[in-house]
Amino acid sequence: MKTILFATHNDGKMKEVREILQDPALSVLSLKDAKIALEVEETGSSFEENALQKATQIADWCQKSGALDLPGCEPSEIIVLADDSGLEIDRLGGEPGIYSARYMGRDTSYREKNANLIARLEGVPKEERTARFVCAIAAVFPDKTHAVTRGVVEGYIGWEESGENGFGYDPIFYLYENDRSTASLLPEEKNGISHRGRALRRMKEILDERNG
Ligand code: IMP
Repeated sequence: MKTILFATHNDGKMKEVREILQDPALSVLSLKDAKIALEVEETGSSFEENALQKATQIADWCQKSGALDLPGCEPSEIIVLADDSGLEIDRLGGEPGIYSARYMGRDTSYREKNANLIARLEGVPKEERTARFVCAIAAVFPDKTHAVTRGVVEGYIGWEESGENGFGYDPIFYLYENDRSTASLLPEEKNGISHRGRALRRMKEILDERNG
């Protein structure tokens, strides 16, 4: 059986990944499942470069360390997936972009980060508040070839936080269709339109093609 190793320790992310990649011929594991505590560096200049860097470092590590000591997991059958995502605000030259997690420091609360972004857009009209969530997903296959997909959701930055769901920048990111923030959506509604969902579904098509 082919094993997908998805480079995250985040359970919420894994839930979405499992729902979208589900296939009886695939075993989908997180780094936590595989007991890998590797910290990978992100030094690329795009979401795609960072995702590929992460996937490559983990694939190399698996190969060097004799791979995963898990029942039913064949080292030569492991496909490593990794993602990188963030928020791009056009009026701010694409900030926070690939630095979304690190914007104003990793330990700064999202309440402060969001308030700061809203303040930086003071006086800017709706049509110039355009923004998007972007997600790149990279796959490194056992033969060392790779593939990268991108998913995007377009919206704008609101004038105040709203909504109790989601995380990070969701309370200030609004959709044009209904003028609601992505933090106001139910998790299943957000998964249906999210940048990560879109990139993952594209990756699933690539995995299916390579399997078929
Ligand atoms: P990661 O690459 O998935 O770890 O995401 C990097 C950062 O981008 C997160 O820490 C958030 O700040 C931001 N981000 C990515 N996706 C979302 C989202 O769906 N909602 C809100 N913020 C997000």
